[in-house]
Amino acid sequence: MSASNYGPEFWHSHWADGGGAFTAKESGRLLAAHWPKLEIPPGSEVLVPMSGKSPDMAWLAAHGFGVVGVEISPIACEAFFAEHHIAADRAAAGPFVRWQGGGVTILQGDFFDLGGKYAAALDRGGLVALPCQDRYRYAQHLRSLLEPGGVLLLVTIEYDPARRSGPPFPVFPDEVRQLFPGAVERSRHPLGRARWTAVGGADAVVWVMRVRRG
Ligand SMILES: C[S@@+](CC[C@H](N)C(=O)[O-])C[C@H]1O[C@@H](n2cnc3c(N)ncnc32)[C@H](O)[C@@H]1O
Repeated sequence: MSASNYGPEFWHSHWADGGGAFTAKESGRLLAAHWPKLEIPPGSEVLVPMSGKSPDMAWLAAHGFGVVGVEISPIACEAFFAEHHIAADRAAAGPFVRWQGGGVTILQGDFFDLGGKYAAALDRGGLVALPCQDRYRYAQHLRSLLEPGGVLLLVTIEYDPARRSGPPFPVFPDEVRQLFPGAVERSRHPLGRARWTAVGGADAVVWVMRVRRG
């Protein structure tokens, strides 16, 4: 359950209306630059919360990782497999519908119903999809799903909130460090697309957080 106007109903209508606007357009450059440095053993299970139909999942599977996306919209799940020409199996799995194929599993359902432990997580478009009042609960749940020693690669966006409203919502460094203690900023780069220059510019910021062992 979400306390805000940006809960499941918002996202179901977003996907029913076509969905594309908040979808990652490329995965190669960002992941090639940052993922290998995390030294996650290939074969590890990587959680992709709020996955949508992100091409990041195909990149991770192609690089030997087990991918578990979580996505509330069946339209997004279906679109991922269709766009990658993968015939997916579908089966009930507790509170989820599990879509599976080509090394990628997408659990269709509410992220807050997910349990288990993962070696790594990739959050691009997850935290920033949520308004401020929903982010603490989200971050706590995401942290609880990482194993000791597990690592999170997080991508946020920063822009002037007076010039535009979300989603994606801007999330600034103080809040990231509060939500994910120990998170370290790895890089930032300006987003060149017209929708961002029109509001005075925006930066994409890459963060890494590692969960302490023991
Ligand atoms: C901004 S989109 C990002 C998608 C993807 N990470 C990307 O970069 O392309 C956020 C996604 O979160 C999904 N979502 C929102 N609330 C959710 C929830 N409670 N559980 C699972 N997925 C959710 C939405 O349907 C949407 O596809």
